[in-house]
Amino acid sequence: MTDTMQAVLPDAYPRLVWGELPRPVAGPGQLLVRVRAAGINRADLIQAAGHYPPPPGESAVLGLEIAGEVVATGEGVSGFALGDAVFGLVPGGAYAEYCVLDAALAIAKPAALGWAEAASLPEVWMTVWLNLVELGGLRAGQRLLVHAGASGIGAAAIQLGKRLGAEVLTTVGSVEKGAWCTTLGADRVIHYHDEDFVDVVKAAGGADLILETVGGDYLGRDQQCLNRDGSIIVIGLLRGTKAELNVGLLLVKRQRVQGSALRSQTLDAKARTAAAVAEHVVPDIASGALKPSLDRVFAASDAQAAHDYVAQNRNLGKVVLIFD
Ligand SMILES: NC(=O)c1ccc[n+]([C@@H]2O[C@H](COP(=O)([O-])OP(=O)(O)OC[C@H]3O[C@@H](n4cnc5c(N)ncnc54)[C@H](OP(=O)(O)O)[C@@H]3O)[C@@H](O)[C@H]2O)c1
Repeated sequence: MTDTMQAVLPDAYPRLVWGELPRPVAGPGQLLVRVRAAGINRADLIQAAGHYPPPPGESAVLGLEIAGEVVATGEGVSGFALGDAVFGLVPGGAYAEYCVLDAALAIAKPAALGWAEAASLPEVWMTVWLNLVELGGLRAGQRLLVHAGASGIGAAAIQLGKRLGAEVLTTVGSVEKGAWCTTLGADRVIHYHDEDFVDVVKAAGGADLILETVGGDYLGRDQQCLNRDGSIIVIGLLRGTKAELNVGLLLVKRQRVQGSALRSQTLDAKARTAAAVAEHVVPDIASGALKPSLDRVFAASDAQAAHDYVAQNRNLGKVVLIFD
Protein backbone atom coordinates (compact mmCIF):
# COMPACT_ATOMS: atom_id res chain seq x y z
CA MET A 1 0.00 0.00 0.00
CA THR A 2 1.33 3.42 -0.91
CA ASP A 3 0.85 6.50 1.26
CA THR A 4 -1.36 8.12 -1.35
CA MET A 5 -4.67 7.27 -3.01
CA GLN A 6 -7.09 8.49 -5.65
CA ALA A 7 -9.96 10.56 -4.26
CA VAL A 8 -12.42 13.26 -5.30
CA LEU A 9 -10.54 16.48 -4.57
CA PRO A 10 -12.24 18.91 -2.16
CA ASP A 11 -10.37 21.85 -3.72
CA ALA A 12 -12.24 21.37 -7.00
CA TYR A 13 -15.81 21.46 -5.61
CA PRO A 14 -18.47 21.92 -6.91
CA ARG A 15 -16.89 19.90 -9.74
CA LEU A 16 -15.98 16.31 -8.94
CA VAL A 17 -12.39 15.83 -10.03
CA TRP A 18 -10.24 12.83 -9.11
CA GLY A 19 -6.66 13.30 -7.99
CA GLU A 20 -4.09 12.18 -5.46
CA LEU A 21 -4.51 12.67 -1.71
CA PRO A 22 -2.75 11.18 1.32
CA ARG A 23 -4.20 7.81 2.26
CA PRO A 24 -5.97 7.99 5.65
CA VAL A 25 -4.70 5.98 8.61
CA ALA A 26 -6.91 3.92 10.92
CA GLY A 27 -6.92 5.51 14.37
CA PRO A 28 -7.89 3.78 17.63
CA GLY A 29 -11.10 1.82 17.17
CA GLN A 30 -11.11 2.34 13.41
CA LEU A 31 -10.84 0.16 10.31
CA LEU A 32 -9.07 1.19 7.12
CA VAL A 33 -11.26 -0.02 4.26
CA ARG A 34 -10.37 -0.51 0.60
CA VAL A 35 -13.53 1.02 -0.85
CA ARG A 36 -15.41 -1.13 -3.37
CA ALA A 37 -18.55 0.96 -3.50
CA ALA A 38 -19.76 4.28 -2.08
CA GLY A 39 -23.38 5.39 -1.82
CA ILE A 40 -24.45 8.81 -3.07
CA ASN A 41 -26.67 10.97 -0.91
CA ARG A 42 -28.37 14.31 -1.47
CA ALA A 43 -26.17 15.64 1.31
CA ASP A 44 -23.10 15.02 -0.91
CA LEU A 45 -24.54 17.34 -3.57
CA ILE A 46 -25.26 19.98 -0.94
CA GLN A 47 -21.73 19.61 0.46
CA ALA A 48 -20.17 19.87 -3.01
CA ALA A 49 -22.16 23.09 -3.50
CA GLY A 50 -20.54 24.48 -0.36
CA HIS A 51 -23.52 24.36 2.01
CA TYR A 52 -22.92 21.33 4.23
CA PRO A 53 -19.39 21.22 5.65
CA PRO A 54 -18.17 18.01 7.31
CA PRO A 55 -18.07 17.94 11.11
CA PRO A 56 -14.84 19.48 12.50
CA GLY A 57 -11.84 17.19 12.11
CA GLU A 58 -13.48 14.86 9.58
CA SER A 59 -12.42 14.26 5.97
CA ALA A 60 -13.43 16.99 3.51
CA VAL A 61 -13.71 14.31 0.80
CA LEU A 62 -17.36 13.65 -0.09
CA GLY A 63 -19.26 10.54 0.80
CA LEU A 64 -21.12 9.16 3.83
CA GLU A 65 -21.27 5.41 3.26
CA ILE A 66 -18.99 2.67 1.99
CA ALA A 67 -18.65 -1.03 1.40
CA GLY A 68 -15.26 -2.71 1.04
CA GLU A 69 -12.54 -4.87 2.55
CA VAL A 70 -10.67 -4.23 5.78
CA VAL A 71 -6.99 -3.63 4.94
CA ALA A 72 -5.77 -2.36 8.34
CA THR A 73 -7.11 -2.10 11.86
CA GLY A 74 -6.41 0.58 14.45
CA GLU A 75 -5.50 0.05 18.07
CA GLY A 76 -8.12 -1.68 20.19
CA VAL A 77 -10.25 -3.03 17.36
CA SER A 78 -11.91 -6.36 18.03
CA GLY A 79 -14.45 -8.31 16.04
CA PHE A 80 -13.01 -7.44 12.62
CA ALA A 81 -9.94 -8.77 10.84
CA LEU A 82 -7.97 -8.06 7.66
CA GLY A 83 -9.90 -9.14 4.56
CA ASP A 84 -13.36 -8.89 6.17
CA ALA A 85 -16.10 -7.56 3.91
CA VAL A 86 -17.84 -4.70 5.71
CA PHE A 87 -20.08 -1.73 5.10
CA GLY A 88 -21.00 1.28 7.17
CA LEU A 89 -21.61 4.94 7.78
CA VAL A 90 -18.69 7.38 7.69
CA PRO A 91 -18.62 11.11 8.53
CA GLY A 92 -16.93 11.80 5.16
CA GLY A 93 -14.26 10.46 2.86
CA ALA A 94 -16.16 7.76 0.93
CA TYR A 95 -15.40 9.02 -2.60
CA ALA A 96 -11.88 7.62 -2.36
CA GLU A 97 -9.93 4.40 -2.79
CA TYR A 98 -9.46 4.11 0.98
CA CYS A 99 -11.63 5.33 3.85
CA VAL A 100 -11.61 4.94 7.62
CA LEU A 101 -14.69 3.44 9.21
CA ASP A 102 -15.30 3.38 12.96
CA ALA A 103 -15.46 -0.29 13.95
CA ALA A 104 -18.49 0.59 16.09
CA LEU A 105 -20.36 1.50 12.90
CA ALA A 106 -19.09 -1.36 10.72
CA ILE A 107 -21.51 -4.09 9.71
CA ALA A 108 -20.39 -7.45 8.30
CA LYS A 109 -21.53 -7.72 4.68
CA PRO A 110 -23.78 -10.73 4.13
CA ALA A 111 -22.56 -12.83 1.19
CA ALA A 112 -25.96 -12.42 -0.46
CA LEU A 113 -25.36 -8.68 -0.90
CA GLY A 114 -23.11 -7.22 -3.59
CA TRP A 115 -20.79 -4.31 -2.87
CA ALA A 116 -23.14 -1.76 -4.42
CA GLU A 117 -26.19 -3.01 -2.53
CA ALA A 118 -24.27 -2.97 0.75
CA ALA A 119 -22.97 0.57 0.16
CA SER A 120 -26.53 1.77 -0.50
CA LEU A 121 -27.80 0.80 2.96
CA PRO A 122 -26.20 2.64 5.91
CA GLU A 123 -27.28 6.26 5.44
CA VAL A 124 -30.90 5.68 4.47
CA TRP A 125 -31.69 2.80 6.80
CA MET A 126 -29.96 4.36 9.80
CA THR A 127 -31.77 7.64 9.09
CA VAL A 128 -35.21 6.09 8.80
CA TRP A 129 -34.63 3.85 11.83
CA LEU A 130 -33.55 6.87 13.88
CA ASN A 131 -36.50 8.98 12.80
CA LEU A 132 -39.38 6.52 12.54
CA VAL A 133 -38.48 4.21 15.42
CA GLU A 134 -36.20 6.01 17.89
CA LEU A 135 -37.56 9.57 17.59
CA GLY A 136 -40.95 9.07 15.93
CA GLY A 137 -42.06 6.03 17.95
CA LEU A 138 -44.18 4.91 14.99
CA ARG A 139 -46.70 2.26 15.99
CA ALA A 140 -49.01 -0.16 14.21
CA GLY A 141 -52.27 1.48 13.17
CA GLN A 142 -50.79 4.99 12.88
CA ARG A 143 -50.70 6.95 9.64
CA LEU A 144 -47.31 8.02 8.27
CA LEU A 145 -46.71 10.63 5.57
CA VAL A 146 -43.37 10.35 3.78
CA HIS A 147 -42.37 13.16 1.45
CA ALA A 148 -40.26 12.33 -1.63
CA GLY A 149 -41.22 8.66 -1.48
CA ALA A 150 -38.97 7.66 -4.39
CA SER A 151 -35.83 9.20 -2.84
CA GLY A 152 -33.32 6.86 -1.22
CA ILE A 153 -34.73 7.87 2.17
CA GLY A 154 -38.32 7.67 1.00
CA ALA A 155 -37.98 4.13 -0.34
CA ALA A 156 -36.61 2.92 2.99
CA ALA A 157 -39.18 4.90 5.01
CA ILE A 158 -42.12 3.43 3.09
CA GLN A 159 -40.87 -0.09 3.70
CA LEU A 160 -40.05 0.46 7.36
CA GLY A 161 -43.39 2.21 7.91
CA LYS A 162 -45.23 -0.80 6.48
CA ARG A 163 -43.05 -3.17 8.49
CA LEU A 164 -44.07 -1.33 11.67
CA GLY A 165 -47.74 -1.71 10.76
CA ALA A 166 -48.47 1.88 9.78
CA GLU A 167 -50.59 3.11 6.88
CA VAL A 168 -48.17 4.93 4.57
CA LEU A 169 -48.94 7.87 2.30
CA THR A 170 -46.22 9.40 0.18
CA THR A 171 -45.67 12.33 -2.18
CA VAL A 172 -43.94 11.91 -5.54
CA GLY A 173 -43.13 14.04 -8.56
CA SER A 174 -43.91 11.60 -11.38
CA VAL A 175 -46.20 8.74 -12.35
CA GLU A 176 -43.20 6.43 -12.70
CA LYS A 177 -42.08 7.23 -9.16
CA GLY A 178 -45.62 6.72 -7.87
CA ALA A 179 -45.88 3.28 -9.43
CA TRP A 180 -42.55 2.32 -7.90
CA CYS A 181 -43.59 3.50 -4.43
CA THR A 182 -46.69 1.34 -4.70
CA THR A 183 -44.47 -1.70 -5.32
CA LEU A 184 -42.59 -0.77 -2.12
CA GLY A 185 -45.87 -0.94 -0.19
CA ALA A 186 -47.18 2.65 -0.11
CA ASP A 187 -50.93 2.62 0.55
CA ARG A 188 -51.56 5.94 -1.18
CA VAL A 189 -49.31 7.81 -3.57
CA ILE A 190 -49.88 11.57 -3.84
CA HIS A 191 -48.82 13.18 -7.11
CA TYR A 192 -47.91 16.58 -5.73
CA HIS A 193 -47.89 18.32 -9.11
CA ASP A 194 -51.58 17.46 -9.56
CA GLU A 195 -52.95 17.00 -6.03
CA ASP A 196 -52.73 18.96 -2.78
CA PHE A 197 -51.18 16.58 -0.26
CA VAL A 198 -52.96 18.39 2.59
CA ASP A 199 -56.38 17.54 1.14
CA VAL A 200 -55.45 13.92 0.46
CA VAL A 201 -53.98 13.31 3.91
CA LYS A 202 -56.90 15.03 5.65
CA ALA A 203 -59.36 12.91 3.66
CA ALA A 204 -57.47 9.80 4.80
CA GLY A 205 -57.87 10.85 8.47
CA GLY A 206 -54.73 12.96 9.02
CA ALA A 207 -51.12 11.96 9.66
CA ASP A 208 -49.75 10.91 13.04
CA LEU A 209 -46.13 11.20 11.91
CA ILE A 210 -44.63 13.09 8.97
CA LEU A 211 -41.11 12.44 7.73
CA GLU A 212 -40.32 15.85 6.29
CA THR A 213 -37.57 15.25 3.77
CA VAL A 214 -37.87 18.50 1.81
CA GLY A 215 -38.64 21.22 4.38
CA GLY A 216 -39.34 24.88 3.58
CA ASP A 217 -42.98 25.76 2.89
CA TYR A 218 -44.04 22.12 3.29
CA LEU A 219 -43.84 22.48 7.08
CA GLY A 220 -46.80 24.82 7.35
CA ARG A 221 -48.80 22.54 5.08
CA ASP A 222 -47.76 19.46 7.06
CA GLN A 223 -49.18 21.10 10.15
CA GLN A 224 -52.59 21.43 8.50
CA CYS A 225 -52.91 17.68 7.99
CA LEU A 226 -51.12 16.56 11.19
CA ASN A 227 -53.33 14.95 13.83
CA ARG A 228 -53.54 15.81 17.52
CA ASP A 229 -50.32 14.81 19.32
CA GLY A 230 -48.73 14.18 15.94
CA SER A 231 -45.09 14.84 15.04
CA ILE A 232 -43.27 16.32 12.09
CA ILE A 233 -39.64 15.23 11.95
CA VAL A 234 -37.66 17.54 9.71
CA ILE A 235 -34.65 15.96 8.03
CA GLY A 236 -34.30 17.89 4.76
CA LEU A 237 -34.18 21.40 3.38
CA LEU A 238 -34.56 20.93 -0.38
CA ARG A 239 -37.42 23.47 -0.40
CA GLY A 240 -35.50 25.94 1.73
CA THR A 241 -34.65 26.73 5.33
CA LYS A 242 -37.54 29.07 6.14
CA ALA A 243 -40.99 27.91 7.23
CA GLU A 244 -44.11 29.55 8.60
CA LEU A 245 -45.89 27.67 11.37
CA ASN A 246 -49.32 28.27 12.88
CA VAL A 247 -48.55 28.54 16.58
CA GLY A 248 -52.24 28.29 17.48
CA LEU A 249 -52.57 24.97 15.72
CA LEU A 250 -49.31 23.78 17.28
CA LEU A 251 -50.66 24.54 20.73
CA VAL A 252 -54.27 23.40 20.41
CA LYS A 253 -53.40 20.16 18.65
CA ARG A 254 -50.30 19.56 20.83
CA GLN A 255 -48.20 19.06 17.69
CA ARG A 256 -44.46 18.45 17.82
CA VAL A 257 -41.86 19.63 15.30
CA GLN A 258 -38.43 18.06 15.65
CA GLY A 259 -35.29 18.56 13.62
CA SER A 260 -32.97 15.60 13.17
CA ALA A 261 -29.55 14.99 11.63
CA LEU A 262 -27.76 11.66 11.60
CA ARG A 263 -24.33 13.13 10.80
CA SER A 264 -24.07 15.25 13.94
CA GLN A 265 -25.08 12.44 16.34
CA THR A 266 -22.39 11.18 18.72
CA LEU A 267 -20.47 8.05 17.75
CA ASP A 268 -22.21 6.14 20.57
CA ALA A 269 -25.66 7.16 19.33
CA LYS A 270 -24.78 6.24 15.74
CA ALA A 271 -23.37 2.92 16.93
CA ARG A 272 -26.69 2.08 18.64
CA THR A 273 -28.60 2.88 15.46
CA ALA A 274 -26.13 0.87 13.33
CA ALA A 275 -26.54 -2.11 15.67
CA ALA A 276 -30.34 -1.87 15.40
CA VAL A 277 -30.16 -1.74 11.60
CA ALA A 278 -27.71 -4.68 11.54
CA GLU A 279 -30.11 -6.70 13.70
CA HIS A 280 -33.53 -5.70 12.39
CA VAL A 281 -33.00 -4.62 8.78
CA VAL A 282 -29.91 -6.17 7.17
CA PRO A 283 -31.01 -9.84 7.48
CA ASP A 284 -34.31 -8.97 5.79
CA ILE A 285 -32.52 -7.18 2.98
CA ALA A 286 -30.18 -10.14 2.53
CA SER A 287 -33.19 -12.50 2.40
CA GLY A 288 -35.12 -10.27 -0.01
CA ALA A 289 -37.91 -9.47 2.47
CA LEU A 290 -36.90 -5.79 2.29
CA LYS A 291 -35.62 -4.16 -0.91
CA PRO A 292 -32.29 -2.31 -0.96
CA SER A 293 -33.86 -0.11 -3.70
CA LEU A 294 -30.67 0.30 -5.70
CA ASP A 295 -31.41 2.29 -8.85
CA ARG A 296 -28.16 2.87 -10.76
CA VAL A 297 -24.49 2.15 -10.38
CA PHE A 298 -21.90 4.50 -11.88
CA ALA A 299 -18.16 3.93 -12.19
CA ALA A 300 -16.41 6.00 -9.52
CA SER A 301 -14.65 7.88 -12.33
CA ASP A 302 -18.14 9.05 -13.47
CA ALA A 303 -19.01 10.56 -10.08
CA GLN A 304 -19.94 13.85 -11.73
CA ALA A 305 -22.47 12.10 -14.01
CA ALA A 306 -23.91 10.32 -10.97
CA HIS A 307 -24.34 13.63 -9.13
CA ASP A 308 -25.97 15.20 -12.20
CA TYR A 309 -28.42 12.28 -12.38
CA VAL A 310 -29.43 12.77 -8.73
CA ALA A 311 -29.57 16.57 -9.07
CA GLN A 312 -32.08 16.13 -11.90
CA ASN A 313 -34.31 14.10 -9.53
CA ARG A 314 -34.11 11.12 -11.91
CA ASN A 315 -33.24 8.44 -9.34
CA LEU A 316 -35.72 5.91 -8.00
CA GLY A 317 -33.98 4.96 -4.78
CA LYS A 318 -30.24 4.79 -4.42
CA VAL A 319 -27.33 5.65 -6.71
CA VAL A 320 -23.94 4.12 -5.96
CA LEU A 321 -20.36 4.55 -7.21
CA ILE A 322 -18.47 1.35 -7.87
CA PHE A 323 -14.67 1.11 -7.78
CA ASP A 324 -12.44 -1.18 -9.91
N1 LIG B 1 -31.16 14.81 8.46
C1 LIG B 1 -30.64 13.63 8.13
O1 LIG B 1 -30.09 12.91 8.99
C2 LIG B 1 -30.72 13.14 6.72
C3 LIG B 1 -30.10 11.96 6.34
C4 LIG B 1 -30.25 11.52 5.01
C5 LIG B 1 -30.98 12.30 4.11
N2 LIG B 1 -31.55 13.47 4.53
C6 LIG B 1 -32.36 14.30 3.62
O2 LIG B 1 -33.43 13.51 3.14
C7 LIG B 1 -33.79 13.94 1.84
C8 LIG B 1 -33.74 12.78 0.88
O3 LIG B 1 -32.37 12.40 0.73
P1 LIG B 1 -31.96 11.34 -0.40
O4 LIG B 1 -30.48 11.31 -0.46
O5 LIG B 1 -32.72 10.10 -0.18
O6 LIG B 1 -32.57 12.12 -1.66
P2 LIG B 1 -32.62 11.77 -3.20
O7 LIG B 1 -32.56 10.29 -3.43
O8 LIG B 1 -31.62 12.65 -3.86
O9 LIG B 1 -34.10 12.25 -3.61
C9 LIG B 1 -34.58 13.51 -3.35
C10 LIG B 1 -35.96 13.63 -4.01
O10 LIG B 1 -36.62 14.74 -3.40
C11 LIG B 1 -37.55 15.27 -4.32
N3 LIG B 1 -37.36 16.71 -4.40
C12 LIG B 1 -36.24 17.37 -4.78
N4 LIG B 1 -36.42 18.68 -4.71
C13 LIG B 1 -37.71 18.86 -4.28
C14 LIG B 1 -38.50 20.00 -4.02
N5 LIG B 1 -38.01 21.24 -4.18
N6 LIG B 1 -39.78 19.82 -3.59
C15 LIG B 1 -40.29 18.58 -3.41
N7 LIG B 1 -39.58 17.45 -3.66
C16 LIG B 1 -38.31 17.60 -4.08
C17 LIG B 1 -37.29 14.62 -5.70
O11 LIG B 1 -38.28 13.62 -5.90
P3 LIG B 1 -39.62 13.96 -6.75
O12 LIG B 1 -39.22 13.89 -8.18
O13 LIG B 1 -40.58 12.91 -6.32
O14 LIG B 1 -40.02 15.36 -6.35
C18 LIG B 1 -35.91 13.98 -5.48
O15 LIG B 1 -35.72 12.86 -6.32
C19 LIG B 1 -32.80 15.07 1.48
O16 LIG B 1 -33.39 16.30 1.80
C20 LIG B 1 -31.63 14.78 2.39
O17 LIG B 1 -30.85 15.92 2.63
C21 LIG B 1 -31.42 13.90 5.81
